[in-house]
Amino acid sequence: MLEKTFTEKSYTLEILYHVGTYENSIHFIFDHASKTCAIVDPAWEADLFIQKITDKGYTLTDIWLTHWHNDHMNAVDEIANKTGASITAGINEIPYLDIKNPIKTVDDKDTVTLGATSATIINTPGHTAGGVCYLLDGHLIAGDSLFVYGAGHCAMPGADANVLFHSMQKLKQIEDEVLLHCGHDYGSQITTTMAQQKSGNPFLMIDNEDDFVRYRNHIHDGSRTYPMQPVSQQALDALL
Ligand SMILES: [Fe+2]
Repeated sequence: MLEKTFTEKSYTLEILYHVGTYENSIHFIFDHASKTCAIVDPAWEADLFIQKITDKGYTLTDIWLTHWHNDHMNAVDEIANKTGASITAGINEIPYLDIKNPIKTVDDKDTVTLGATSATIINTPGHTAGGVCYLLDGHLIAGDSLFVYGAGHCAMPGADANVLFHSMQKLKQIEDEVLLHCGHDYGSQITTTMAQQKSGNPFLMIDNEDDFVRYRNHIHDGSRTYPMQPVSQQALDALL
């Protein structure tokens, strides 16, 4: 299991990569001041995650969800039952979430806090009906909305490529130096800056909604291979 750590002023972001059957990336936010932890999209390995947090001397208080897909939440109830952590999810994702414990809802531009650390909610529907990203100081936790040089599919209930286009326009507004962290390690690099995505990720480079929908639904899967590499505007234009 690959692990990476990013230390910022108020918090440390730790990421476990390639966890479970679908090789999810699991994000831990450790707030230095309060010694509390939030875990984003816990799946597959409840006890391992709890142990990791306890070993550092932190208390898990929060579970933040990006979207309802099983590979992002199949350890949520077990962790909530064992730790009492509260669960947060996008308000429009609630009808899809198969979780027994109570869920606090958030909407676009809301702020969630963990001790002295805060994250801004960005609603990014499209991959699902109510998916959200968490924007922290210097880091974007994007779930499956945006991948390194890719984006989430629109193949399951609640998905909509037209809606995804508008979410991508919002993500293009994020500052260039912010680092992108995704729900899966599908790219040629494990993380990049948003600047690199804006100039090499086809889903951020297509400005026309009809072209975007055609690309997402009919062109992308047959023209890209994993790990996904950056594309040039010229190569993208040729595909469109
Ligand atoms: Fe997903």
